[in-house]
Amino acid sequence: MVSRVIPVDPFDLVVFGATGDLANRKILPGLYRRFFAGQIPEGARIIGAARTEMDTAAFRAHARAAIDEHVGAGKRDAAQIEAFLGILEYVPIDAMGEGGWTTLKALVRPQLINAFYFSVAPALFGPLAERLHAFGIAAAEARIVVEKPFGRDLASAKALNATLAEHFDETQIYRIDHYLGKETVQNLMAVRFANILFEPLWNAQFVDHVQITVAETVGVGGRGSYYDKSGAMRDMVQNHLMQLLCLIAMEPPYHFDPDAVRDEKLKVIRALQPVLAADIVRGQYLAHRSDDGKGHQPGYLEDAENPDSRTESYIALRVHVANWRWKGTPFYLRTGKRLRARTSEIAITFKEPPHSIFDEADETWRENVLVIRLQPNEGMNLKMMIKEPGPGGMRLVQVPLDMSFAEALGEDGADIPDAYERLIMDVIRGNQTLFMRGDEVEAAWAWTDPIIEGWTARGDRPQGYDAGSSGPEDALMLMHRDGRRWREIRE
Ligand SMILES: NC(=O)c1ccc[n+]([C@@H]2O[C@H](COP(=O)([O-])OP(=O)(O)OC[C@H]3O[C@@H](n4cnc5c(N)ncnc54)[C@H](OP(=O)(O)O)[C@@H]3O)[C@@H](O)[C@H]2O)c1
Repeated sequence: MVSRVIPVDPFDLVVFGATGDLANRKILPGLYRRFFAGQIPEGARIIGAARTEMDTAAFRAHARAAIDEHVGAGKRDAAQIEAFLGILEYVPIDAMGEGGWTTLKALVRPQLINAFYFSVAPALFGPLAERLHAFGIAAAEARIVVEKPFGRDLASAKALNATLAEHFDETQIYRIDHYLGKETVQNLMAVRFANILFEPLWNAQFVDHVQITVAETVGVGGRGSYYDKSGAMRDMVQNHLMQLLCLIAMEPPYHFDPDAVRDEKLKVIRALQPVLAADIVRGQYLAHRSDDGKGHQPGYLEDAENPDSRTESYIALRVHVANWRWKGTPFYLRTGKRLRARTSEIAITFKEPPHSIFDEADETWRENVLVIRLQPNEGMNLKMMIKEPGPGGMRLVQVPLDMSFAEALGEDGADIPDAYERLIMDVIRGNQTLFMRGDEVEAAWAWTDPIIEGWTARGDRPQGYDAGSSGPEDALMLMHRDGRRWREIRE
């Protein structure tokens, strides 16, 4: 299988926050990879902007360093890098100030596609939008890209939406959730809606439960005091896990069209039931001492620089989607820091056949499970029961039908584009399907807010869990009491 690269139309892309971590790790290397793949057309220009005073030559050197650090050796071609750096410009601009904007205006060509990536703190979204307008830089069709976090509750998300709406139409606003840019996530829609196989079984009658896991091995050290104001619910569940849940639970859209897809996702969010206190487990990772007793790895409270913190670095929830399709099928969500392995997956466990004609001792083997792996090694895996090969009588064995995208795509497989690459190209193409609409974000906060208010009012404390484990004990109980168990967290 060979993946096709279809060049986009010429564009001017302005990256505000071009000297920041995200630009350095994802945006600039991602744009270079698209350039290397032949997707960036002749005449396109990428303009970096931030407060740091430097000229274009210095910015190009900065971008070269980012490419050297974050692009694999196989794609670091000297001539290509040189050519890519040639399309970069830099303008020093303070989002809160008035300097630099006329220089930027002179660089942005209104006859081309114009996109403005706000890779800066959300407090700067308003000032940037205002100035792009005031200085007449944003053409009528211009697109803006905004990063998470999009608000910290319903009120702040509404305020942010209102600020952006003063200057840009919803069709111009691209709210990034990079989980939606993953190959597997889009493939999930293809598997569901381009095959007849699963859809008849995709409901409470045949699906026992769904597990969505996003596990990280890193802690919050380095940005602990910042993280402490948010926590796993705000940082991960309200956006990434919610988006994954929507793609699993949504009805088929009438067409693969941005608003049709987003309308269906919105209906899922609105159908989410309030979550009972008994269906929530929160945790904080504990300090860890290495076996030789020498190394000390700080616990969450130390990392957060807040010994009284009640912010969770882990959360597990049992969630119900109250509609005809899903009534009775629980969705178990969990995400956390400092867990056993770095992995993200969705597992759909189907019900057992109603009656077994085989003598099988191990009943748990009879479930079919469809696992959608987001990382590492994006792919899908369907666990099926077959007869164990050989003459030893009729014995059953569970085998995985495994589809690793890396393997399936052959040489190209190792090169599945990073989510940011895909999403930025979608912005240039003007395709909003994989971006969150304002009402979706608000609905997600409307569901999240009462959950957070609930545990705040009750004064709940997160339970400690060992670093490198699969989370707090109570999270195991959340499943055990339903006669189910979490899938193992492993790479
Ligand atoms: N890093 C990630 O992995 C990640 C992941 C998801 C979302 N995000 C979001 O992406 C955004 C950027 O994150 P980041 O990690 O790149 O942050 P960062 O490393 O702190 O970078 C912030 C950028 O904004 C610029 N900046 C700050 N104040 C400015 C001002 N007044 N006017 C113009 N530019 C200004 C900074 O450059 P100067 O100091 O030179 O002005 C820098 O380029 C944030 O909203 C963050 O929440 C980041």
